[in-house]
Amino acid sequence: MLKWIGLFSVLMMAGQAMAAEECNLTIDSTDAMQYSTDSMTVPASCDEVTVTLTHSGQLPRETMGHNWVLTNTADADAVATAGISVGLDGDYLPADDDRVIAATEIIGGGETTSVTFSTAGLSADGDYTFFCSFPGHNVMMKGSFTIE
Ligand code: CO
Repeated sequence: MLKWIGLFSVLMMAGQAMAAEECNLTIDSTDAMQYSTDSMTVPASCDEVTVTLTHSGQLPRETMGHNWVLTNTADADAVATAGISVGLDGDYLPADDDRVIAATEIIGGGETTSVTFSTAGLSADGDYTFFCSFPGHNVMMKGSFTIE
């Protein structure tokens, strides 16, 4: 009996590890003001998603800072614009803004950050955009986020 419970536990843990893996996304950013991808997708089975942002450049966050911000595509430009006046101390994002679905802090070269967020309220029919809210960066640093 104990042997079966043990086997069951191992199978449960393996299942959770697999589910977690496909719900964990990684994206890199560079001194050339670019992300490593313009498209990110997670399966609808993910209750939570973790996005890890790396910055493989060398420039400091003050001059080449990057973050990862997720909004509805319709809100992306307005949120980026609103963030400019907030400044670096506020990660160039308006505080407590309902339009922001998820966001990391701003990092500089050699640094890593991540954000974990619930997919409740998001849907496969949604149109989502991720971008960097450092002033001017969203022109080049943006992409689509899809749940499928
Ligand atoms: Co940036």
